Parts: sequence; structure tokens; C-alpha cells
Amino acid sequence: GQPFFHYRDAQLWVEDVSVSALARAHGTPLFIYSQGAMLSALDAYRRGLAGREALICYAVKANSSLAVLQTFVQAGCGLDIVSGGELIRAVRAGADPRRIIFSGVGKSRADMRLALELGIGCFNVESLPELDVLNEVTSLLGRRAPVSLRVNPDVDARTHPYISTGLKDNKFGIAHDQALDAYRHAASLPGLEVVGIDCHIGSQITEEAPYLDAMDRVLDLVAAVEADGIALRHIDFGGGLGIDYQGETPPAADALWARLLQRLDQRGFGDKALLIEPGRSLVGNAGICVTESLYVKHGAHKHFLIVDAAMNDLPRPAMYEAYHAIVPVELLDRPSHVYDVVGPVCESGDWLGRDRRLAVASGDLLAVCSTGAYCMSMASNYNTRGRAAEVLVAGNQTQVIRERETVDDQLRLEHGLAPALRPRT
Ligand code: LLP
Repeated sequence: GQPFFHYRDAQLWVEDVSVSALARAHGTPLFIYSQGAMLSALDAYRRGLAGREALICYAVKANSSLAVLQTFVQAGCGLDIVSGGELIRAVRAGADPRRIIFSGVGKSRADMRLALELGIGCFNVESLPELDVLNEVTSLLGRRAPVSLRVNPDVDARTHPYISTGLKDNKFGIAHDQALDAYRHAASLPGLEVVGIDCHIGSQITEEAPYLDAMDRVLDLVAAVEADGIALRHIDFGGGLGIDYQGETPPAADALWARLLQRLDQRGFGDKALLIEPGRSLVGNAGICVTESLYVKHGAHKHFLIVDAAMNDLPRPAMYEAYHAIVPVELLDRPSHVYDVVGPVCESGDWLGRDRRLAVASGDLLAVCSTGAYCMSMASNYNTRGRAAEVLVAGNQTQVIRERETVDDQLRLEHGLAPALRPRT
């Protein structure tokens, strides 16, 4: 699933650069991204939406590194953010605030204020109380807020429960049957300007059907809201398209959008401006994480390969039992065993792959695949492990886009005990 990564002479390459050379130069664990892969994933959406008034708002949370954001901003994307922090990143990356949309169930007043001051494109509001708070914040600033309501279409995205968001019992969005009243309320508030409708049903969706169902449900609401005299300029279909981690066959973005646009046209909404918020499908398969194997440990029942990357770098297996392919960076003549590939963190949940047949010895480099999305952006400092470095590759060009975090970086915000609080001995 990673066409910009390939073997040449038994060595793994990313575009025109050798992975082992990068790992030698920058150490491990090391995230390596292919800019070509990002732009090619973006192109598929562009082809799918060609000829329409559409804005692709890359979901910053998937990989929020500044250079990654700049890649998408400079390629013409808007951004989808979910916090004041992401908003500041987005602006530092050069995004025009009018092309930024603000999602999320728990926006703070301070975040709303910052977004309003910057002139953000749209707030995707997720509840009635949030409408009221946003209206209040606007009255302090004397500026109207463009809003879209995130509705919950109650369709099953058929994905992992932790990343499914469009079902009735999820905390996200406004229930379908409450949406019309919420629109009436929004339209009645002087500080708000209703501009659109939004939905996002989940992530790592590998089928077309949930998208079509969600679209139908959303279009029913568009019709009802507009019949009520409230005009909607845009429809935001969220993100969610899955990628190939383990042989999954999600629809290609261009094919999916051809189908969705066909449905949109059939139902008479072909003239609406479109927004989408893809994250994983733009970056997931544009990245690998290179790790060095530290120890081969033959246990009573299992063989363990202990590597220098861990759940703090790659939290998806621990959190969702997610699968990431793990491959050697150099194909060498080694005895092969079936291993549990695990990290150094003191938790049984710290595993990266289970029951993987690998021909490796200690000191060898491995690539954990499909780690461009929701890995670095979810990384932590558990066990006082510094976060990994990141390198971006474009053709034969490489750039360190994030330095490896040091212990001093981690300690910078901490204060040792003041004398008055020191326990007596
Ligand atoms: N828009 C909204 C409102 C979202 O909540 C999300 C993701 C996206 C867009 C982007 O969705 P994508 O195209 O990336 O599927 N950490 C999990 C995934 C969490 C997704 C959260 N929301 C994982 O590692 O699988």
C-alpha cells in the first residue's frame, strides 16, 4: 500500500533516498515521509472533485507537523482543526484563516475567540449549548461567526468502535431528528451566520456504502433546512476514507467522489459548494517509522523482537489493536522466526506487531509501515522517552522537519520542589 517506498538491491528506499542511510544519519526511531506520496494522494481527491467548487481541508490531527501542513497548504488545501493549538499551527504553516474550519465537540471560549479574531472560515458546531456560547463570544467581539452544524446521520461506518463517530450513541454531532430545530435556533442568534452543514461518520472507512448512506441522510436535512427558509452555501462531508494497512481495499478517492457527486447531482444539489476533511488517506501511507532491533529474546512460548520504537511513538496497536506491516530495511540472510515485535516501555500493551515472521538479528533496522497518520501526532513522553525525529523526502531531497526531542526539552516546563515543600528526613 506504499508505492513511494520500494526495495532496490535488497534495500528499502523512499523515493530516491535510501532508508538505511537516513537512519544512520539521524538515528532511530525515525519517521520518514514521502512528500510525493502525500501529493499523489491529494491528486486523487482533486481528480474526483474536478470542475466543482470544492475545498479540501486536510485534517491537521492526522499529522500536524509544520512541514506536512505547509505541504498541503502550498498545494492549495484548506485545513480542518480541532483546537486552538492546531489553529496556531495552521496559521504558522501559512494557511489563510478563511480556508480553515474548526471542528470538535469541546471548543473553549478562548479558542473560539482566537478563531474569530483571525477570521476563520467556519465553525462546525456540535451542540445547542455550543451555539449559545459561540453567539456570546461574538457579542464581545462584535463580529459574526460563520457556522455549520455537524449532524449525526446515524449510519454505521463499519470501522473500529473507537474511531466510529456517526452513530446515535457517539458523542459527536447533533442528532438527525434535532437538527432542524438546531438550525432554527442558530438562525435566530444575531452573532451567527449559518453557512453550511457538516458530517463525519468515522475513520478508516473501507467501503463506499456508509458514505452514500450518510450523504442521503445529510441531503434529506439540507432539503428540510432550506424548505424552512435557511439557506446553506456548503456541504461538508468530513473525512474518514481508509487506507490499505493489511490488504484492505478502500475505494480510491477519485472513484468514491465520482459516485458521491453522481448522487449529489441526481438529488439536485450539484450546485452546492463542497468541503471535505480527509486526514489519514492523505498521509497514512506516506510515512514509515524506522526502528532498530535491540534484542532477540526467545521466551518459553514466544519469540520476542525488542525494538527501540514503542507505544509512545506508535500508539495505534496498543489503543486499537491496529495492524501495521513491519518489514526489514535491508533484506539480509538471517534465521527467520515468528516474533512479537515489542517496544521497551514497561507495559504488556507495548507491542507493535504480533506473530510476524521476520528474518532479523539484533542491530538490524525495521520499518513499521503506514505510519504517516495518527502516529507522531499521538506520540507521548511516557517512560520519559523523547519523541522521535521526522524527515521529509521529496525526490532525492531530504529535510529534517523535526529534531529528536531531548530530555532537556521534556524537563523545560518542570520545577523542582521548592524548599517549603521538601519532605523532612
Ligand atoms: N473530521 C473530523 C471531524 C474528524 O473527527 C476526523 C478524525 C477527521 C475529519 C479526519 O478523519 P480521517 O480522514 O483521518 O479518517 N486516532 C485514530 C483516528 C481518529 C480519527 C478522529 N477523527 C486512529 O489512529 O485510527
